[in-house]
Amino acid sequence: MKRVDDFRLTFGKKQFVPIMIGGMGVDISTAELALEAARLGGIGHISDAMVTDVSDRRYHTSFVKNKLRLYKHNIDNSDKSIIHFDLGVLAEATKRHVEATMQAKRGEGLIFVNCMEKLTMNAPRETLQVRMASALDAGIDGITLSAGLHLGSFGLLAEHPRFRDAKLGIIVSSLRALQIFLRKNAKLDRLPDYVIVEGPLAGGHLGFGMDWAQYDLATIIAEIVQYLKTEQLAIPVIAAGGIFTGSDAVSFLENGSAAVQVATRFTVADECGLPKKVKQEYFKASEADIIVNTISPTGYPMRMLRNTPAIGAGIRPNCEAYGFLLDGNGGCAYITAYNSEVARHPQAKTYSVMDKTCLCTHMRNFNCWTCGQTTYRLKDTTRRLEDGSYQTLSAEHIFKDYQFSVDQKVALPELARK
Ligand SMILES: Cc1cc2nc3c(=O)[nH]c(=O)nc-3n(C[C@H](O)[C@H](O)[C@H](O)COP(=O)(O)O)c2cc1C
Repeated sequence: MKRVDDFRLTFGKKQFVPIMIGGMGVDISTAELALEAARLGGIGHISDAMVTDVSDRRYHTSFVKNKLRLYKHNIDNSDKSIIHFDLGVLAEATKRHVEATMQAKRGEGLIFVNCMEKLTMNAPRETLQVRMASALDAGIDGITLSAGLHLGSFGLLAEHPRFRDAKLGIIVSSLRALQIFLRKNAKLDRLPDYVIVEGPLAGGHLGFGMDWAQYDLATIIAEIVQYLKTEQLAIPVIAAGGIFTGSDAVSFLENGSAAVQVATRFTVADECGLPKKVKQEYFKASEADIIVNTISPTGYPMRMLRNTPAIGAGIRPNCEAYGFLLDGNGGCAYITAYNSEVARHPQAKTYSVMDKTCLCTHMRNFNCWTCGQTTYRLKDTTRRLEDGSYQTLSAEHIFKDYQFSVDQKVALPELARK
């Protein structure tokens, strides 16, 4: 019976344990979590979502405070289009985060940054270019393009000295998305180094409509693997979404995937950025508690726990401080939803906005409990403590469980000593 450790992911002349821990913004996939994956010979991700805020918290900068000071006069204005990001500040914040992470890296693995196109920041091209270029300048091993088709993203990097040496990959949820990406980038003579195929059971935003349940990861992978073979394109395919055990991973590795990307199992790792209390919510969840809805202003469906505080919270948009989802015209679907609620109830003191959420604020405060479909199984991966809470696990334990387990088994951690 095979185990994940019988396989290797090959990039050029180097080989890696074929386990990638997926990017989880905002600082849920922390540097500490990514560093463990790299130390153990796999690949970890940090995320550059809301990187100015992440820098403030980790490195005691004041980027968000300074931006808020600059735009404070606009707080009561329902129009947020004047709010812009200082590209120099964005570069500095990205560099700090990436540099600090890369300096701490040990072991043979790699660390990539997850770059979501949907963080449009009222200047989609310019800000994305700065985010990616600064991460490369600061020594990141690779960039995973996500949450968008990224048709122009390789082009934005084409002049960068590391464009051909850094690992660059993209997340897709269909063969069609991959084909469009490859066609658009054909003239750059630079293929992606890997393609992550994310199926409908993943956490975060989904690359499907609300009909997500009709899709199946193994089927999409089979189509993509066949297409790449026909086109004679040797791009490693990495399966993601709902891979809960080492045996689940092996079945993908035996059927054409070069590695797996996993995330949900690591949401309850000690190194994961979610607060302790939120980790307990993930443990406690039953299958019926896991829902997919359309409250994200990005337009993508998102999976989360039913008791997520962000649902229905009608807070004032916080774009003067954050504003990471402002589109190129300074709009955001939450601002529209909030403004129409205010117009409907001009005298109200508080609001409930059901159809959209202020995602920046709620992700920043760990109040949007996004999760994968398998979250309800997390309780079976650990021990219950005397006080009724669940024991969190080390990232190493979870990583090695994926790497070495067979027969759908999940190894429980040693009982924590008080
Ligand atoms: C809490 C959480 C946050 C996530 N955030 C992001 C993100 O910011 N960007 C992204 O591309 N994917 C995100 N994802 C998706 C993961 O990177 C990964 O591809 C997917 O969840 C793998 O499936 P699994 O969770 O079933 O293992 C997130 C997943 C979780 C569980």
